[in-house]
Amino acid sequence: MNILITGAAGFIGSNFTYYELDKHPEDRIVALDLLTYAGNLKNLEGCKKYPQFSFVKMDIRDRDSIYKFFEKENFDIVVNFAAESHVDRSIMDPEVFLSTNVIGTEVLMDACLKYGVKRFHQVSTDEVYGDLPLETKDSFFTEETPLHASSPYSASKAAADLLVNAYNRTYGLNTTISRCSNNYGPYQFPEKLIPLMINNARHDRPLPVYGKGINIRDWLHVYDHCAGIDLVMRKGKNGEVYNIGGHNEKRNIDVVKTILKELDKPESLITYVADRKGHDLRYAIDPSKIERELGWKPVYDFDTGIKETIEWYLDHEEWMNEITSGEYLRYYEEMYKDI
Ligand code: NAD
Ligand code: DAU
Repeated sequence: MNILITGAAGFIGSNFTYYELDKHPEDRIVALDLLTYAGNLKNLEGCKKYPQFSFVKMDIRDRDSIYKFFEKENFDIVVNFAAESHVDRSIMDPEVFLSTNVIGTEVLMDACLKYGVKRFHQVSTDEVYGDLPLETKDSFFTEETPLHASSPYSASKAAADLLVNAYNRTYGLNTTISRCSNNYGPYQFPEKLIPLMINNARHDRPLPVYGKGINIRDWLHVYDHCAGIDLVMRKGKNGEVYNIGGHNEKRNIDVVKTILKELDKPESLITYVADRKGHDLRYAIDPSKIERELGWKPVYDFDTGIKETIEWYLDHEEWMNEITSGEYLRYYEEMYKDI
């Protein structure tokens, strides 16, 4: 099969590209990315040794280039990871989130229709469901939970999901959507909680915890997310949505304390800062549909996964140092100017 992975130089896209190359050596893998601040070709360095791998730099919003490319390539499956993905950036400047996450998805689906792609898979997020109360520990997001996005980022992802379903019903495009909870693992950009805290702790810098640190996220190792996407895009039913999550709910403050403990750094580095605007309280996924219908099960437990992840960042100091210079410093100073 001929598979296009968009957003392949980002965190999950790069992990997924490795997953596909190893798991399905018979398939041809084309990785596409615009290489924004979040895209890093170094993440795909290890893919070059695979003869079935190639990379193209392209903007998913650039209709002419995307059409020319699809006409030439004859893709069987398109899996779309390309997105602006950071909630705090969407609060600072929403517009690029709408253009990439909504219009970019539309352009890709138009190309899929025009050039006969057999399956379009949209990588979505549990954030489209909004949040759950902190108190009701037995409530979960199911695929039937109404969309109720809180941030410009999650609103743009929800809009894209609605558009995917509209293309499925109106034009008969063969689609699937997966909605996953928070991922952690190698190659995550250090604007996100876990790599940011590891990087700051490593340099004995303050660890900025929003509000009281009691918001809950449902953490899943990126490898388990990739395994879920692989199943859904190949075996999922046309027009269906699948939630992906591993029942791993943690309060932010507990995640931060685990990182400090693993790095043997003092809790005095924790610095409580102003809360995120509109901060979602709790995410928690009910993954029973993907487990039941596609036989998916996570392999990582959080304790093992977080230890391996911390080690990975410590072993990849050069990778971290390169991406935390330049644009990152400007963003960091603007975002965390009060600490
Ligand atoms: P990321 O920010 O690390 O990567 C996004 C990639 O998309 C980058 O490589 C970037 O260069 C590329 N990109 C951005 N705009 C583009 C454009 N116009 N054309 C082509 N490429 C473009 O994000 P991530 O964390 O890897 O997330 C990937 C996808 O998974 C996103 O759609 C996100 O909504 C979703 N998701 C993320 C998580 C998570 O915890 N990180 C959880 C669930 C779902
Ligand atoms: O749930 C899936 C989503 O998870 C994905 O769709 C998003 O792309 C991804 O970025 C992530 O969103 P979050 O907003 O949950 O992730 P983030 O790492 O930004 O924050 C995790 C929690 O940690 C959140 O409650 C905010 C808090 N936080 C974050 C940062 C960056 C802090 O307390 N301090 C920080 O400096």
